[in-house]
Amino acid sequence: MEVAFTVMSRRIEIAPSVLPCDFSRLGEEVAALEAAGVDRIHWDIMDGQFVPNLTIGPDVVAAARTHTSLPFEAHLMVHTPDLLAPRWVEAGCERLIVHVEACTHLHRTLGHIRSLGAKAAVVLNPATPISTVEHVLDLVDMVLIMSVNPGFGGQAYIPTMEPKVRALRAMIDDGGYDIDIEIDGGISPKTIAGAASAGANVFVAGTALIKHADGLQGGTADLRARASAAVR
Ligand code: DX5
Ligand code: ZN
Repeated sequence: MEVAFTVMSRRIEIAPSVLPCDFSRLGEEVAALEAAGVDRIHWDIMDGQFVPNLTIGPDVVAAARTHTSLPFEAHLMVHTPDLLAPRWVEAGCERLIVHVEACTHLHRTLGHIRSLGAKAAVVLNPATPISTVEHVLDLVDMVLIMSVNPGFGGQAYIPTMEPKVRALRAMIDDGGYDIDIEIDGGISPKTIAGAASAGANVFVAGTALIKHADGLQGGTADLRARASAAVR
């Protein structure tokens, strides 16, 4: 198994999106990802309203829960994250990630998630400025920057998100917070170095990992090595 290591004090983590997996055998798929050395499982939850696509509910995540000991996080691309928040926690998600654009009362929603015993994180669409999270940094352990418009796997990485990641890293560090930056969308052997050098340390990878020519284990090692080399 690939060794986890820390670069510039933040741990590099590979968080596969299950979107390209075989949904008829998700248990085996997450077990295979764990064997390949990934760090957590990133569940892309879509409600068919906030984004023009629909994926899975908490019962499906709960069914996969017994097949791996990896942490689960739920990326909630939904208009009403508060509604099912308790269900996602019961399903075994240790972190709920909510969209700034979906939350009228973001501060309240993050507090609600924490009150359920879960970690709270926040995610920004490509057009959403980082100023929208400036006053909730004390409530989150991670900020996710979308490097595609959410809704589908397999889209092209938007490189202009890198200055945004850089500015967010500076904002977090200036405030003295202990917060990871995750990046999601189009992360591949070609794009991961740019994202890492901008300051992201958690990398969601769907298509490029699940379909990697070297297989899951080789692909995980490849992505981790490239991210590490970029910040060394
Ligand atoms: C997009 C999702 C992603 C994405 C990752 O709405 O949040 O997690 O599908 O997949 P790739 O790596 O294929 O872009
Ligand atoms: Zn995602």
